[in-house]
Amino acid sequence: MNWKIYHFNSVKSTNDTACSYPIGTVVFADKQTNGRGRHGRLWISQEGNLFVSFVLPEYGYQTPLLSFITAVSVKETLDDFGFSCQIKWPNDILLNHKKIAGILLEQHDDKVIVGIGINLKNAPCNDDVLYPATALNTLVGKHEIILALCHKITKNLSIFNQDGFDIIRHKWLQSAVGINERIFVRLPHETISGVFTQLTPQGAISLKLDDGTVRFITAGDVFFNKKEIT
Ligand code: BTN
Repeated sequence: MNWKIYHFNSVKSTNDTACSYPIGTVVFADKQTNGRGRHGRLWISQEGNLFVSFVLPEYGYQTPLLSFITAVSVKETLDDFGFSCQIKWPNDILLNHKKIAGILLEQHDDKVIVGIGINLKNAPCNDDVLYPATALNTLVGKHEIILALCHKITKNLSIFNQDGFDIIRHKWLQSAVGINERIFVRLPHETISGVFTQLTPQGAISLKLDDGTVRFITAGDVFFNKKEIT
């Protein structure tokens, strides 16, 4: 992909701004006044952190898989700068068991806006944060990180285009927290617990419940400890 990168001083949300640009555009801003996260949550956008959105093509029924491609790309980018990150299903990036980056996919017609927020300088900590956050505290600049992200996303998209999801799925599984361990998944009307056994080729997690049945989960919030669920 031949990325075209645009910089803004302040926007409501880089995902909104990116929406009016063609596929292959990258939008980043120093300030977001209305950053948003998954499930309509607020993304606390403290200055100094990275807010960037990539405009990608849609992939029909496979579009949700872009979130795993992005998570692997963000993890590989941060690893290359010397951090050792993990992925929490579906696409949170953790550093030392705390959230360092979040990813939000939004589809508009034939485009998918992939928004990435990385806590470079500040770790939001207030009641709106679902999971404890941390910051990279790195001297690596935003431009460097964006260029590295462009490179990784291009590479992983071409793996996906050529070979399908399996290589990405294995990379994701190698970096996933909680595999073969008991996890808790908060769904809209219940919280369930079981052993996290797999990521399916469709991007769901399979959870082996205590009664031996297997549940496939496509949306929800994962926790590793009962105390974490508020
Ligand atoms: C999440 O973990 O809930 C996803 C957070 C995604 C935040 C990024 S910051 C850049 C882009 N613009 C937004 O408004 N959200 C995403």
